[in-house]
Amino acid sequence: MDRIRIVGGTPLNGTIAISGAKNAALPLMIASLLTPDTLVLDNVPRLADVQLLKRILGNHGVDCMIAGKRAGQNGLSGETLELTAGEIVDTVAPYELVSRMRASFWVIGPLLARMGEARVSLPGGCAIGTRPVDLFISALRDLGAEIDIDGGYVIARAPRGLRGGRVSFPKVTVGATHVALMAAALARGETVIENAAREPEISDLAACLIKMGAKIYGAGTSTIRIEGVDRLTGARHPVMPDRIETGTYAMAVAMTGGDVVLEGATPDILQRPIEILTEVGAEITATNHGLRVKRNGKGLSPVEVTTEPFPGFPTDLQAQLMALVCRANGTSRIRETIFENRFMHVQELARLGADIHLDGQMATINGIDRLKGAQVMATDLRASVSLVIAGLAAEGETVVNRVYHLDRGFERIEDKLGACGATIERLSA
Ligand code: UD1
Repeated sequence: MDRIRIVGGTPLNGTIAISGAKNAALPLMIASLLTPDTLVLDNVPRLADVQLLKRILGNHGVDCMIAGKRAGQNGLSGETLELTAGEIVDTVAPYELVSRMRASFWVIGPLLARMGEARVSLPGGCAIGTRPVDLFISALRDLGAEIDIDGGYVIARAPRGLRGGRVSFPKVTVGATHVALMAAALARGETVIENAAREPEISDLAACLIKMGAKIYGAGTSTIRIEGVDRLTGARHPVMPDRIETGTYAMAVAMTGGDVVLEGATPDILQRPIEILTEVGAEITATNHGLRVKRNGKGLSPVEVTTEPFPGFPTDLQAQLMALVCRANGTSRIRETIFENRFMHVQELARLGADIHLDGQMATINGIDRLKGAQVMATDLRASVSLVIAGLAAEGETVVNRVYHLDRGFERIEDKLGACGATIERLSA
């Protein structure tokens, strides 16, 4: 199993190209199931989760081609994928595949909408809480589906097709909003989704579905209205830039000091993280090319942050922020409200010397002067990158084990950070 070795203490200087967003690429790829025509996606990040989803979609009959490079493209830019679900050959998503990535459960929406049936294994994914699927099931029932759970599978049927309805989520859920949107696009009549997730990745999916012929109004707000259509067509759509990758590198720069341009980043979808980073002591400015993040030799200030659905501070940046404020001049508090077990990085950060106390959903972080390198274990995707950030500032050598978690969501992290002066290398097993 690969490991990442870091020798900390060097400021970051240079440019980092921001990749396409994993959390947008996955639902966009899944949307290819809704049409027999070809969906072309540009700027798809090269990530393990994308590779796995290609296999899962292939199992349903989606033909997935990687388009040749175009003029001006280099091996570092995202891929262009051509996805064609001419015929759905199988409406079963098996345990062996779905258990490896939670988002693959989302195929249930388009399979049911297009084929009138789906049999999808209950998901797995990051071990960050129980992550049930009750809200997916109630939303699909609201659209006229009959649903049973049997042998670890969700069995969904709508033999006469889905019909529009009112879907009112009791709590904000990104995944179930994606699924309701895709299912309602092909349902008969009008659907209204209330308390919909407002994450920018929802708007990106909606924009692509609209290009495919869907009638969707209000994506990006908490009430989305969809007028179902009989069929959707092919389209071409670029995956939006990854706001979590952007925020992660911004925190890395805040941690080490230096001056880095995050090329292609879009500041308007990162308002809350930018506010918090500024409070901590980074200087962030929007440029024509993206975001410039600087920090001079001054110390870091502590913060109080609660994770919330968009536009609040994202849970996917919680671990990284925690690594950062480990070195603040004072005590920070971070409350995690989205996932109950998302604190597995705490004990690993402690191995580097961090002083963190957990009480339920609240972490109290007493800032210390110096972190010291150590062997640490990546436990989930965002937790593992927080250890990289901490390692970049720690004295001496840090080795992050179980790097496969990182490869699920961060494209060529060691190259991107290495190009900005970090001493970081991948040790292949
Ligand atoms: C997505 C993101 C993930 C991010 C999360 C929250 C992708 C691929 N993943 O995950 O990176 O951390 O949004 O921003 O986009 N819930 C239920 N019942 C359900 C569904 C969800 O109780 O049926 C709960 C979850 O346990 C959690 C909360 O709702 O407590 C939010 O989860 P959700 O927004 O659905 O997260 P994901 O879509 O899985």
